[in-house]
Amino acid sequence: MTEHDERRRAWDRRHAEREHIESGEPDPVLVGEAGPLPPGRALDLACGDGRNAVWLARQGWHVTAVDFSSVALDRGRRRAAEAEVEVDWQAHDLLTWIPPEGSFDLVSLVYLHLPPDERRVVLRRAARALAPGGRLLVVGHHRRNLAEGVGGPQDPRVLYTEEEIVAEVPGVVVERAEARRASHGGGQRVDAVVVARRAP
Ligand SMILES: C[S@@+](CC[C@H](N)C(=O)[O-])C[C@H]1O[C@@H](n2cnc3c(N)ncnc32)[C@H](O)[C@@H]1O
Repeated sequence: MTEHDERRRAWDRRHAEREHIESGEPDPVLVGEAGPLPPGRALDLACGDGRNAVWLARQGWHVTAVDFSSVALDRGRRRAAEAEVEVDWQAHDLLTWIPPEGSFDLVSLVYLHLPPDERRVVLRRAARALAPGGRLLVVGHHRRNLAEGVGGPQDPRVLYTEEEIVAEVPGVVVERAEARRASHGGGQRVDAVVVARRAP
C-alpha cells in the first residue's frame, strides 16, 4: 500500500469514528464570504462530509465537491439527499487530480492541512481552476493556533500563515489575508483566511 493509500484510509477511519470532523454547520467564514456572491459554479476541495458543499448548493450554487475519503463522500450524499439538493460528488486524491482549468466562480479549501510541498501543488491547481473573476477561499488552522488556540493539527509543518498562502497562489488579486479568531470548543482558535480573485 502506498503512503497516499494509507492517508486515505486513515481519513476514512477518522470520518467513520465521528459524526462530524468539523461541525454539522457550514463554516462561518465560507458563509460570510460566499453568502453575498451571486451563485455560480463552485468547487469545494477536501469537502469532507459536505457541510459546506450542501450549504452552497442550498444557496443555488452548482457544486462539485471533491474528497478522497469514500466514507466522507457517502455522508455528503446523504446530507444532500436530506437537504434535497444536487451536488456533484467526486472521489479524487488532490495530490494527483487536476481540476478543470478556468471553470469555477468559487474554489474553496476549508481545513485542508498538508505539508508545504503538497499544499503548494494543490493551491496552484485550485487557483488555475478559477474562471475569470472567480474567487479562491482558503481557511485553515493558523500556525499561531499551536500557542494561542485550541484544536486542529499539532504538527507545525501542516499549519500555515496567511502570508504563506498568498505567496503560494500567484496570478490572483488578494482581497483579504488575515488571522482570525473564532470560538471553538469552549476556547478560541486562530484561523488563517485568504480570499483572492482571478482578474476578470
Ligand atoms: C479536516 S477535514 C475538512 C473537511 C471540510 N472541508 C470541512 O470543512 O468540513 C479535511 C478533509 O480533507 C480530506 N483530504 C485530506 N487529504 C486529501 C487528499 N490528498 N485528497 C483529497 N482529500 C483529502 C480528508 O478526507 C478530509 O475530509
